[in-house]
Amino acid sequence: MFDIDRFAADCRAALAERGSEAIRDVVRRAVSDPAALIAALGEHSGPHAAVLVRAPDLTILNAVWGARQWTLPHNHHHRAIIGMYGGGEDNIFWRRLAEDAKGRVEAAGAASLRQGDVTALGRDIIHSVTNPLDKMSYAIHVYDGDFLSAEGKSCWHAETLCEMPYDAASVSPAFGHALTSR
Ligand SMILES: [Fe+2]
Repeated sequence: MFDIDRFAADCRAALAERGSEAIRDVVRRAVSDPAALIAALGEHSGPHAAVLVRAPDLTILNAVWGARQWTLPHNHHHRAIIGMYGGGEDNIFWRRLAEDAKGRVEAAGAASLRQGDVTALGRDIIHSVTNPLDKMSYAIHVYDGDFLSAEGKSCWHAETLCEMPYDAASVSPAFGHALTSR
């Protein structure tokens, strides 16, 4: 049985061990039992982003991606740990062009996350996400702070790759502002 309060407590304890693998292990353990997560958080037929925990030191989102859903490149200003418990997320990682007046980025790497995979993104990472599948994909996203109200976040235009102020409805129109609370 997945218990969100116990998971949050485990995340807090693991995040306190800075520089360790502990937080990955906590998230890996959770996503190793997809049936328990689905039983606790529900099955969905359309895009769904629920805030499970929002606190100054911790944000936990249940990110359920619609078929072929995408995001613009964006940053978080927090460390982020992503664990997949169904389907997949294809991530592109981006880096800033040196001394570019428009803050443009270029692709720097990629990661194809599939069920059971966990990855940790450093606080300055810029990524974009696509669900490459024709079905829903399910992920838990853990941030080591209040990601939703972090100041000064950015996103990047899909065509020009120029930097813009972060706007949730632009980053992922399918999620938009429809973040729901537990
Ligand atoms: Fe993200």
